[in-house]
Amino acid sequence: MATVTFDKATRIYPGSTKPAVDQLEIDIEDGEFLVLVGPSGCGKSTSLRMLAGLEDVNGGAIRIGDRDVTHLPPKDRDIAMVFQNYALYPHMSVADNMGFALKIAGVNKAEIRKKVEEAAKILDLTEYLDRKPKALSGGQRQRVAMGRAIVREPQVFLMDEPLSNLDAKLRVSTRTQIASLQRRLGITTVYVTHDQVEAMTMGDRVAVLKDGLLQQVDSPRNMYDRPVNLFVAGFIGSPAMNLIEVPITDGGVKFGNSVVPVSREALSAAADKGDTTVHVGVRPEHFDIVELGGGEAAKSLSKNTSDAPAGLAVSVNVVEELGADGYVYGSAEVGGEHKDLVVRVNGRAVPEKGTELHVVPRPGELHVFSTKTGERLSD
Ligand SMILES: Nc1ncnc2c1ncn2[C@@H]1O[C@H](COP(=O)(O)OP(=O)(O)OP(=O)(O)O)[C@@H](O)[C@H]1O
Ligand SMILES: [Mg+2]
Repeated sequence: MATVTFDKATRIYPGSTKPAVDQLEIDIEDGEFLVLVGPSGCGKSTSLRMLAGLEDVNGGAIRIGDRDVTHLPPKDRDIAMVFQNYALYPHMSVADNMGFALKIAGVNKAEIRKKVEEAAKILDLTEYLDRKPKALSGGQRQRVAMGRAIVREPQVFLMDEPLSNLDAKLRVSTRTQIASLQRRLGITTVYVTHDQVEAMTMGDRVAVLKDGLLQQVDSPRNMYDRPVNLFVAGFIGSPAMNLIEVPITDGGVKFGNSVVPVSREALSAAADKGDTTVHVGVRPEHFDIVELGGGEAAKSLSKNTSDAPAGLAVSVNVVEELGADGYVYGSAEVGGEHKDLVVRVNGRAVPEKGTELHVVPRPGELHVFSTKTGERLSD
């Protein structure tokens, strides 16, 4: 077991001037499950491959425990990697696939058999040990790839989109299995995915990358509650956070016909940056629906600026009923433009398509970002 440190690690591919990974800094704790997530091309695989020793590091350093591994060959790093395509040897049995690295390392046959059988038991593969990979389902192959990593008892597991070949349902059950297996083995793990739901459900902490730059490393809860910028705000959460540009007024922001209070600190930070508008972020579950004409709820939550109905008028385009909840996909006019919004509603009281809702964000749940820089301004 070991910590992993990316210390301003940079990768510039030959022929390119822009780093694919730019001064990445993350300290991963011993036994931690860290997920690297971000859109396609943001540098996730490159980061993982630098840690594996499969990609040169052009700046900074990488450490495993207190060993500087920046320029060590992969075989000397004490890591095991699980790839997206599993890379199983088709002509070898499951047992031979799982034990292959140990055989290369010169471990004796009896010892290999023991380790393979132990791993097969953990992964529910015992009855398949003599089969060839082609006679296995996708999920079973995925577990063989895991088994091959486990038998090596490495200091660090590296996994690059190991679930992307599985169908949706199997992905969900396998992600739980991998997360609980990792916790049981306690081996430090760096896991790459482009799927933010996978990241949020599996990671002790999540690192969000964009264009080779680290945006935020945080626990899933903090990432959801306090995204540091507009990018993370829009990337984490499903359905995504509503992000709306609104004018700043006295003591708050103008949200349709209401003024929603915003902390003095956030407003003065916006003024310092020269913003006259800010981007507010509201998660779909953080809207209060107010009655037409402004009900008591609306009046207590926000100052109604005129006799017009409180809040923002949203025309209901589509209603997605999920049983307990419903999601309203609607549009609103904000600053003269049509803006698509998602509002979570009670599943027992969903509005009709074609009607109009008035919504007000719950004041404590409002995220405020600078229009100029995209940085978070609210606490
Ligand atoms: N061998 C290479 N030579 C040159 N550029 C590369 C090479 N491999 C990757 N890149 C570039 O580096 C950037 C990061 O690629 P990387 O594979 O790390 O992205 P990723 O986040 O893993 O994306 P995906 O989700 O699509 O797998 C991309 O712009 C990509 O085009
Ligand atoms: Mg990749």
